[in-house]
Amino acid sequence: MLHKFIAALPLLSLAFLVAAGPLDLREAAPGIIEDLLTGILNIVQQLIKDVLSGVKSGINDEISAKPLVCLTTLDPCCPCELPACPSIHGANIISSGYDVSAELTKQFTGPDGQCNDNARAAIRFGFHDAGAWDKDSTFGGADGSLMMDYGEENRAENNGLQGVRTLLRTVQSTYKVGYADLAQYAHNHATITCPKGPRVRTFIGRKDATQANPTDKLPDVHDSADNLIALFQRKGFSAHDLAALVGAHAAAKQRFVDPSAAGMPLDTTPGVWDVEFYNDTLNNQGGKNEKVFVLPSDKVLSTHPKVSDEWNAFVGDQPHWNEDYAKAYVRMSLLGVQNLKDLRECTKTLPKKKSL
Ligand code: HEM
Ligand SMILES: *[C@@H]1O[C@H](CO)[C@@H](O)[C@H](O)[C@H]1NC(C)=O
Repeated sequence: MLHKFIAALPLLSLAFLVAAGPLDLREAAPGIIEDLLTGILNIVQQLIKDVLSGVKSGINDEISAKPLVCLTTLDPCCPCELPACPSIHGANIISSGYDVSAELTKQFTGPDGQCNDNARAAIRFGFHDAGAWDKDSTFGGADGSLMMDYGEENRAENNGLQGVRTLLRTVQSTYKVGYADLAQYAHNHATITCPKGPRVRTFIGRKDATQANPTDKLPDVHDSADNLIALFQRKGFSAHDLAALVGAHAAAKQRFVDPSAAGMPLDTTPGVWDVEFYNDTLNNQGGKNEKVFVLPSDKVLSTHPKVSDEWNAFVGDQPHWNEDYAKAYVRMSLLGVQNLKDLRECTKTLPKKKSL
């Protein structure tokens, strides 16, 4: 019986694929996750494959309130108690998406209804946890190591993330969720906490780290555009993906690149997930009168021939950027994750998207 069901899965997903139609026909970037998505796939693996190839959107706007009877056996986004937790989630990974979501909404929303400093730090935290990986790494990636006790918070590139790390560790111990899942869940939650942010498809079920991530895999703000493009390519991202990803600086501030201008935002509206960043970066002359701080890396990327067409296309086009960001971030949130067959989608537990 089970056998027949599994045999029917590829057919089912094929039907889905035809019905969905292509959203984006650009060439897929190289990357090891595609190597894991071959042969017979379950529904979630097929979904991930379809998002990465542009057949399905990386955004999912479906929302579900916490069910009255919330059991992980009925809904994988509900909490469960050990030892009843499905073993697929690993020893210490207990999902309780609805409760974590409510908690993060409190932590990430400012009095003005926009996303606050905790949220922007969480957005960066998810990237720094997952991004310390490339296709030659045998460990690392989206494994929660930055939140765990491996000392990564003391690395120079993680300066400024210590506060949100402490916050997330409290959430982890309160709700007993996996570190790896929480790092990515918090990124996606913070993104949607910013008005205009996309509801990026959110998966749970990753395994937690057993050691610190490899060093020297995160970008240097003073590096050349060619080196940055190559660094992200080794993680499976195209130059276009990179153009979309750095748009997260729409919700960012800097403190350590120029400490004399600590707290300066990287776009005019850091509490809003909008495309102002792309225009702001292009127009900024870097003088003392500028209200926005432009990172040297963003400046060189914005004019690089492999990036600039996409960069300019994002100016004034929020839906285009949100789609491309979500697609690229789904890949980010799964870097180094091997047990794709165990994952479940819990996007429905994220809050509603906000307009301004
Ligand atoms: C070329 C790639 C990138 C470089 C060189 C870079 C570099 C930086 C630097 C230097 C800062 C300022 C840190 C500080 O002084 O406090 C920053 C902040 C930030 N970055 Fe990036 N970044 C890159 C890509 C990304 C990506 C892919 C994301 C998310 C997906 C991201 C999200 C953020 C956020 C949200 C902040 C603000 C943190 C806060 O205000 O607490 N960055 N980035
Ligand atoms: C981009 O910025 C320039 C200069 O600040 C402004 O004149 C223009 O209207 C902006 N364009 C968009 C689409 O926001």
